[in-house]
Order: sequence, then structure tokens, then C-alpha cells
Amino acid sequence: MELEKAIRERRSIRKFNSKKVPDKLVAEIIDLAQWAPSGGNQQLWKFIVIKDMELRERLVKETGSTPLLTKCDKAILVIYQKNYLTHYQTDIESASAAIQNLLLAAHARGIATLWVSTEKLNEKKLREILRIPKDYWIVSYVLIGYADENPPAPKRRPLKDIMCEDYFSFEDEKNLSSRYSPKNWTFGQLKYYWNTSILHTSPNIAGVFPFGRKEDFEREVEEVTKLLDVDEAIEILPYAGTHTVKFLKNVRFKKFFFFEISKQVESFLKRRLDFFKIDQKNEFLVSDELKIPAKDNSFSGAVCFQKLEMLPSQKQLLAEIYRILKKQGIFVLSFRNSLSYYGLWYIYNYKLRKPMDWQIFEPINYFKMKSMLEEVGFEIAETIGISPTPFSRGVATKLFAPMCKLVIFKCVKK
Ligand SMILES: Cc1cc2nc3c(=O)[nH]c(=O)nc-3n(C[C@H](O)[C@H](O)[C@H](O)COP(=O)(O)O)c2cc1C
Repeated sequence: MELEKAIRERRSIRKFNSKKVPDKLVAEIIDLAQWAPSGGNQQLWKFIVIKDMELRERLVKETGSTPLLTKCDKAILVIYQKNYLTHYQTDIESASAAIQNLLLAAHARGIATLWVSTEKLNEKKLREILRIPKDYWIVSYVLIGYADENPPAPKRRPLKDIMCEDYFSFEDEKNLSSRYSPKNWTFGQLKYYWNTSILHTSPNIAGVFPFGRKEDFEREVEEVTKLLDVDEAIEILPYAGTHTVKFLKNVRFKKFFFFEISKQVESFLKRRLDFFKIDQKNEFLVSDELKIPAKDNSFSGAVCFQKLEMLPSQKQLLAEIYRILKKQGIFVLSFRNSLSYYGLWYIYNYKLRKPMDWQIFEPINYFKMKSMLEEVGFEIAETIGISPTPFSRGVATKLFAPMCKLVIFKCVKK
């Protein structure tokens, strides 16, 4: 296959059929992988081809590896030996070059691949299960098999956004994904960020739920479902639709609306609803700004799942929601609470450790949120807290709500 064609047409595949990749081809693509350049020409990459299904199931269950591990033909774990000649960064660079070779070599043979990060796994457990010594970096999984989907190519950025001459001359302020707090952005920047992260299909359509947060998530959707007892409602900023998919599986409305801030999010979410076979009748209201394109007193219900903590202008949106609700209309809101153990975790991780992450948000103080809601005119009819401590994930409580990781307010328009 011609190189340029292979580079352009290789896709990340997340749905595999049951056809097996012959061992001979696996050996060929790994052999081609090692023709990548490596720092100091050390070539210290190793490729563990994981075939055993029980082993893969264990990795999913015990290390938080993606369930896709059990849905492909084989998984390859790429590791790189730590060494005194090169720096961590160089080792990862070398391993990554080999991985890209592997993906292209596989693609040229009609084999589908998915590069999967290992960054959020239980690394200790992974080493223990696969017997990987301490002196190896665990780099990435590459899942292989034959494709059972033909996804469209995610767009690439315009060349002017990625290339310049001599001196740095990019519009840097547009990309704020390394600044965790929405207080540091404008609404326009938030929109740009949401658009580009959708553009890069991250999170992906199949959306595997992160390890360890599942109980909270399931309980949250369950409680919101109970509280939003109306037959027509609007979801405010579904974004990638993780909650939406779960929520609309549980409950049917006469009609469901979405308010979104970009057309890209709309088309992404539509594809996602199709993927999960959700046929709930729906309509998108899309606006460039935080103004919901709907008349006053239009809806009997509204819901917003953990989005306010991603916004620089929270009160403005709350006032909009109040405006579009009918009298006695219900607004159910969930948010991450800074007065909980999670608030401390956030300070440690984001403020002290400052990791780069694609999740941009800042938990909101329970009392601040409550007073913002009241200031725009809502009456809080019910409060539920989820996960009062890290050891009680998914536990719902009314009494200890102000100290829970997640808080759900059922608000009524007076
Ligand atoms: C370092 C790295 C880690 C990735 N991790 C994941 C992952 O954990 N899950 C996933 O579905 N895709 C993962 N991907 C695939 C990207 O989402 C994918 O390459 C991107 O959306 C572009 O799509 P394309 O590969 O079809 O061009 C990863 C890619 C890279 C390079």
C-alpha cells in the first residue's frame, strides 16, 4: 500500500468482528514496528501479545483496562525498558514511534487497530498480573483484529494552526486544555475547546466509562430520573452525551430537547444516540452563546448533568434555564461539590500536582450553588448527595448531602 494512503486512511477502530489475525501477520507487524527510530538506538521496546481471553477479562476487571480488550482479537501491550542512557520522555518517544509503525504496518495488511492509553490503569496490578518487572515503562495497548465498522476520518486541524516558521506564532490563547479552571477562560474559549475535543472524537462514540466512577454515575442518573418527573424536558449542555445515553435508556419523554453551544456537538451526539440505538424523539436547540433559543415559559422540565462546573458564567446559564421553564417547572441539576472529599482530591490533583488532563472543571461549593439557584428565583424542593466518602461510592443520602462528592438539586420555578 502506498505510504501516504496508509497514513491518511488508517483509522482507530473500536468495533471488531470475530475473524482472527494469523500469528504470522502479528509477527510481521511487530517486526516492522521495531524499524522505528529509537533514542540512543537502544531499541528497548517489548511487545506482549495477549491472547488468552480469561487473562484479558482479568485485566479489565482488576486494572481498569478498557472492556474493548475482550472485544478484539488480540491485545498487544507495548512496554519499554528504563535505561540510564535515556530520559523517560525519550523512552516513551521511542516506544510511540514503534507503535505508529505497528499501526501502519497492520493497516497495510488490512488489520484494524486501536491505540489505547494506559494512563489511568492500576499499574501495580497490571505489572503483577502480566509479571512485568519494575524496570519497564508501561506505554500503551494496541488492540488488533478485523474491523466491523468504517468510521469517518476525524477532521485534522488546518495547517496554519499547527505550523509556523522561526518563532512561535500560534493563537495559543485558544487552546486552554492545560488550564484546569474554567474561571480562566471565556465562554468563547470553552466553546472552542468543546468543539476541538469533539473534532478529535475524544471521548469516543462508544464511550467506555472510566474505572472507579461507575457507581457514582449510575446512582446519579437513577436519582435524577426519579426527580425529573415530567413528560417533556430539555437537557442543558449534553456535550459528549455520556449521561444522556444512560439517562434516555431509563426514561421516555413525549419529546426531549437538547440545548447545545455548537453544531459539532450536535452532530457528534446524534451519532452517539444512533450508536446506542436511542430512538427517543428529540430536537436540538443550538446557539452560539449561552442564550437558549426558546421562548420564556416553554418547558416543564430541564436537566443538567455536571456541566456548570465547566462554565465560566454559571449564573447566566441558571437564569436562562429559569427563564425557559414554565411556572412550577422542574430543574434537576447535578454537580461536583467542593466541600466533599472530592474537593480535597481536586485541590491535590489539579492545584498542587497540576496534571494535564482533558477534563476541565472546578467543583462548586454546595452553599454557593444553592444561593446562586435561589438568587435566580428557584426554590430547592429536594437535595440528594451521592458518595459521602471515597469508601461509600454510589451511596445516596439526604442528610449528608452538603459533604457529598455529587449533589443533586431538584429546583422548582416559583
Ligand atoms: C497516545 C494515544 C492514546 C490513545 N488512547 C485511546 C484510548 O484510550 N481509547 C480510545 O478509544 N482511543 C485512543 N486513542 C485513539 C485516538 O482517539 C484516535 O487516534 C483519534 O481519535 C484519531 O482518530 P484516528 O486514529 O481514527 O485518526 C489513543 C491515541 C493515542 C495516540
